[in-house]
Amino acid sequence: MNTAIQVLQALRDGQFHSGTGLGRELGISRAAVWKAVHKLQSEWALQIDAVSGRGYRLAESIGLLDAGRIRQASGLGPQLAALEILLATDSTNRRLLQAAAAGASSGTVILAEHQSAGRGRRGRRWESPFGRNLYLSLLWEFEAAASRLAGLSLAVAIAVVRALEAAGLSGLGLKWPNDVWWQERKLAGILLEMRGEVSGPWQVAIGIGLNVNMCGIGMDPAWVDVQTIQGAPADRDLLAGRLLAELFAVLARFQHDGLTPLLPEWRARDVSRNRPVALQFPDRTLHGVARGINGDGALLLESDGIVKPWHAGEVSLRHERGI
Ligand code: BTN
Repeated sequence: MNTAIQVLQALRDGQFHSGTGLGRELGISRAAVWKAVHKLQSEWALQIDAVSGRGYRLAESIGLLDAGRIRQASGLGPQLAALEILLATDSTNRRLLQAAAAGASSGTVILAEHQSAGRGRRGRRWESPFGRNLYLSLLWEFEAAASRLAGLSLAVAIAVVRALEAAGLSGLGLKWPNDVWWQERKLAGILLEMRGEVSGPWQVAIGIGLNVNMCGIGMDPAWVDVQTIQGAPADRDLLAGRLLAELFAVLARFQHDGLTPLLPEWRARDVSRNRPVALQFPDRTLHGVARGINGDGALLLESDGIVKPWHAGEVSLRHERGI
């Protein structure tokens, strides 16, 4: 087991532990204990008091995700093929794709308390502090050819919004293709990664990062979390369960009927419609006015009086601060 996790487990009782005592208990040097504490503080954003003569103490209680409670809250039966909670990993999407290659079934879920290399869209990094948010990946298998999956990421965004609304949140918006927004700030992001043959079947790792209880710690002003919106800390198990319930329902519908039945819900939450936007590609940026989405989920961009559909690119609204 990773040394940082071992030290964290020893500190979970909230009591002071001396460096020497921890070292003896874990069979490591005092310097290794110090290094692990430093990692927990700096990389995992955990608050640990270090008091000379007394040692180290976890300054906050951490409620970890509970697979039983999540399953119960989801109301799902055997279709939730497997549910694994990792204390730390590099990326739940990467782990899930690895599991898929080794034969994991559709409906397998991996959650983590911390990701050291969380993946965001367009090669960005997804910041993943320990124990505060949800980092969830769900494996889903589609028989269809890749072209039939065009609107999938928009469908997933609908599931996320439904779960958050079921938890009592309101005023949520969607920024194409799948960012969940609240009052012009980003609440959740979605990253789909696929493996398969052009003609199918496809295995898709549906990765969702949802900011839950960041308590403002290290948070960019362009981001928001569930706690800020509802004014109280949120129960992450309940949220994860609701998320899974809505994901399974939306994915089953999408598999059968495509994006069409979900379009009205997406359009009703479109935050960029009729606003000036920039559509960014690695090599160029297009400017225009967003005119909603077409039936395949492509962004309609009006430029020089002509409206064209775009299936890729990153939308930013004029005032946006680097999301
Ligand atoms: C975005 O850039 O908006 C998408 C972010 C997706 C982050 C999630 S967290 C769980 C899953 N595992 C990853 O490495 N990334 C996704």
